[in-house]
Amino acid sequence: MTFANTQATVYNDKVVRQFAVMTVVWGVVGMLVGVIIAAQLTWPQLNPGISWLSYGRLRPLHTNAVIFAFGGCGLFATAYYVVQRTCQVRLFSDKLAAFTFWGWQLVILATAITLPLGLNSSKEYAEMEWPIDVLIALVWVSFAVVFFGTVGTRRVKHIYVANWFYGGFILAIALLHIVNSAALPVGLFKSYSAYAGVQDAMVQWWYGHNAVGFFLTTGFLGMMYYFIPKQAERPVYSYRLSIVHFWALIFTYMWAGPHHLHYTALPDWAQSVGMVFSLILLAPSWGGMMNGIMTLSGAWHKLRDDPILRFLIVSLSFYGMSTFEGPMMSIKTVNALSHYTDWTVGHVHSGALGWVGLITIGSIYYLLPRLFGQRQMYSIKAIEVHFWIATIGIVVYIAAMWIAGVMQGLMWRAVNADGTLTYTFVESVKATYPFYVLRLIGGLLYLSGMVVMLWNMLKTIAAGRVVQVQIPAVAAHA
Ligand code: HEM
Ligand code: HEM
Repeated sequence: MTFANTQATVYNDKVVRQFAVMTVVWGVVGMLVGVIIAAQLTWPQLNPGISWLSYGRLRPLHTNAVIFAFGGCGLFATAYYVVQRTCQVRLFSDKLAAFTFWGWQLVILATAITLPLGLNSSKEYAEMEWPIDVLIALVWVSFAVVFFGTVGTRRVKHIYVANWFYGGFILAIALLHIVNSAALPVGLFKSYSAYAGVQDAMVQWWYGHNAVGFFLTTGFLGMMYYFIPKQAERPVYSYRLSIVHFWALIFTYMWAGPHHLHYTALPDWAQSVGMVFSLILLAPSWGGMMNGIMTLSGAWHKLRDDPILRFLIVSLSFYGMSTFEGPMMSIKTVNALSHYTDWTVGHVHSGALGWVGLITIGSIYYLLPRLFGQRQMYSIKAIEVHFWIATIGIVVYIAAMWIAGVMQGLMWRAVNADGTLTYTFVESVKATYPFYVLRLIGGLLYLSGMVVMLWNMLKTIAAGRVVQVQIPAVAAHA
């Protein structure tokens, strides 16, 4: 194959480098805000009376920073890298790809300014006001054009399964964002949702649950299907299973949202539909996890001395844990205990820190040396240290929240023989205090790991150089 210009003979790794570096930067920032709000919950005096530094303003800043800035940049970086390598072609449009990078950073900056100011649409994980929503939609559509344009111009016949997961995630997020953010603006910083009452709640949690399913899961499964086989130097355990995994997962996730609205004004049958689909979701989730872990069969010994592979594989154990726990929590009687308690926060962070965090960190460690012309990261020892403090941090965080959550649920429902409550609410808050201290320690450990990663990245960049990677002249046929 001949190319019209030399640009077309190399991959566009500039945008991958930009997103990869910002993944680490935003990871440190978002997790620092997480540590601050964990400290505020432990010591309420840390709410200093300045409204934009109060817990209520910083909490959405944390969730948006870790999900959309840290997770989002990781997804952009890896999607752009993977789609070029597996399609053996340069990104469809350099200009649009650059727009997605700068546009996404602008979204993050605007969010980081407006949320602390209290400009909040009050929809969880979609708190940004309408002008930012419009920018998100523009960036996302450009992302779709670049990604699918690249798949469309591929030089290999086959579309590798990681691209199916990235593609599914991109399409679903476009749909979810546009439908859930539909609103009537009444000023530059104020709008009213297009939906009202229980319909608004249902649309919000259809979005919210699928933000978990597609933003926090499907895109990261794309990472799993590329980076685990690459790092382990083994083919995917079962290609057939990966296709069944894809279709089963995306079909089932869409229906599970009502489990966030148990015992509310939502019709009972809709709650039951949500519960049943959540239980079914265990099967594709575990099928996918097995496929990832079994990719190591015959190469288990590599786990002993490859800390990057350890990040990738341990992330799957946390994925398995949180996708077992989720279906259990969706059972109405279990949810009657867990809802409103810190059990939910424990579940969230076993998925967020364990699955999303570790798979992203592992994939970025894989990418960085390759993007900066190095054989490996500046310090392998530092990756090792990062792995252990992150893993210990997660276990401390989630174990503290599980114990606190079950304790809270049991205290709130305890009644005396005469029907009065055994405990006042404040007694349950007091009993939770030691667990908040533990959560803070776990969070601090996890954050320290990210700071070590930032240092290791800067050292790798300083020792490295920007490289142009040639696209193979003869395309491999699958
Ligand atoms: C150093 C690491 C982290 C710390 C210390 C931390 C701390 C916290 C705290 C204190 C809350 C508020 C809990 C509450 O409302 O009672 C929270 C909420 C949340 N965090 Fe984190 N977090 C960290 C990392 C992450 C990461 C990496 C993600 C996602 C990738 C994440 C996603 C979330 C989500 C989705 C919520 C909202 C949970 C809910 O509404 O139930 N966090 N975090
Ligand atoms: C089979 C998969 C899963 C199912 C069925 C599931 C189910 C649930 C259930 C029942 C709740 C509690 C709802 C409530 O009482 O309000 C919940 C909350 C949550 N889950 Fe999962 N979960 C799954 C996997 C995951 C994963 C892998 C992650 C993260 C990466 C995650 C993130 C969250 C978040 C962020 C919330 C809190 C939402 C909020 O109230 O703000 N879930 N999930």
